[in-house]
Amino acid sequence: MSLLIKGGKIVTATDAYDADIYCENETITRIAPALDAKDLPPDTEIIDAAGKYVFPGFIDPHVHIHLPFMGTNAIDDHASASRAALAGGTTSIIEMICPGPTDEPMDAFNEWKSKADELAAVDYSFHMSVVRFDESARQQFRRIVEDEGIPSFKVFLAYKGALDLSDEDLFAMLTMAKELGVIVTAHCENAEAIDSMQKRLLAEGKTGPEWHEPSRPISVEADGVHHLATMAGLTGAHIYTVHTSCEPAVRAAVDARLRGVNVWIEAVLPHLLLDKTAAEKPDFEGAKYVMSPPLRERQHQDVLWAGLAGRAISTIGTDHAPFNFNGQKDMGKDAFTKIPNGIPSIQERPVMVYTHGVCAGRIDLHTFVDACSTQAARLFGMYPRKGDIRVGSDADLVVWDPDYAGTISKETSLSAVDYNAFEGWKVWGRASVVTVRGEVQARDGAFVGTIGRGRLIPREATHF
Ligand code: URP
Ligand code: ZN
Ligand code: ZN
Repeated sequence: MSLLIKGGKIVTATDAYDADIYCENETITRIAPALDAKDLPPDTEIIDAAGKYVFPGFIDPHVHIHLPFMGTNAIDDHASASRAALAGGTTSIIEMICPGPTDEPMDAFNEWKSKADELAAVDYSFHMSVVRFDESARQQFRRIVEDEGIPSFKVFLAYKGALDLSDEDLFAMLTMAKELGVIVTAHCENAEAIDSMQKRLLAEGKTGPEWHEPSRPISVEADGVHHLATMAGLTGAHIYTVHTSCEPAVRAAVDARLRGVNVWIEAVLPHLLLDKTAAEKPDFEGAKYVMSPPLRERQHQDVLWAGLAGRAISTIGTDHAPFNFNGQKDMGKDAFTKIPNGIPSIQERPVMVYTHGVCAGRIDLHTFVDACSTQAARLFGMYPRKGDIRVGSDADLVVWDPDYAGTISKETSLSAVDYNAFEGWKVWGRASVVTVRGEVQARDGAFVGTIGRGRLIPREATHF
């Protein structure tokens, strides 16, 4: 089956031009002005993109779907998460594999992969979390990188006793990452400081969701970035700070870059648009807005947007981590430390960045494409297969209707989670047609694809 996308304006991270795109055998095979349908096979599906943009499929470099965490499990499976992702225009995801400290890394890899293989409709890969680093684990990580094509690790400088790593192991892991050309994605905070702050606040009777942010303030996040960057400087490893939420953390990463450390910065949608007052909503509703690092004071959003506009911040992810308000978030009614951390937004990211970034004049269209697609492909070893519109690339395309106006609502979200953190927000633009490897998977906010069609994306280690 072949596909012709006709009459649109192609917009990539660097270019904008009017041309048609012809796709065959899952890839883009021709890009030219005015391709004539008469010259193409008769069964070619034709999509009219007149008056619309055509973007490379969006890539979410930071999602959690299968996630046993804080005494419960995230509520999406790969079917519901794929439906939501595709409806919004996201065609590829990188999911965090988060095993417990006693689990075997290879077992965890197989567990996460089998769940995605069965139900994903998006293409996918994984960042492999390193939560222990003994000799047996090391050998398994090497195989996961070299034999399974997973050239990125994840490390947590947070969640004491559950996911955090000692400095000795952190140093050894970064040394191995450098040797293998693996980029290390990192949740940067200070697990010990947070643990002490949480105990102090709870002892003072400060138990509500509004105390989550004070338990892990901006200085703690900046400390984590500085610490990781110090270790990366000593080992030569390449690092990527996930969900960087505030000015001091961004500055710590940029300072490290100026010292010669190879560090890249990710922002995530919740920190760009929501602030800490959301977690202060009455009647425990603030729990919907508990994530780590926490939502910050509003002024940090300006720094994140400016960092994106100047491309000091490379990517925008979601950190999609869906926990129901009823039955999961409310596990923390008596103590904010028991509220499962996460704010879901796998469907909303493209339209919210388009609306509040591009339409609001904070970033241009090319930066939007770069941050939501191209940079993730480049940094994580899947460019130019993903993240661009070129002959030879996978035919992952988003035909974007800039004239659509709508409202975000739980009613139209396809994630399984029981609330939408952006309920009632107005948006402009919409993914009107979304293709993955040349097949239409979503139209006008509805999933029309095939569950289970998603594939593991071949990736290369490039961070030597
Ligand atoms: O609050 C968050 N971010 N939940 C998911 C786990 C993580 O730290 O990324
Ligand atoms: Zn995290
Ligand atoms: Zn995360």
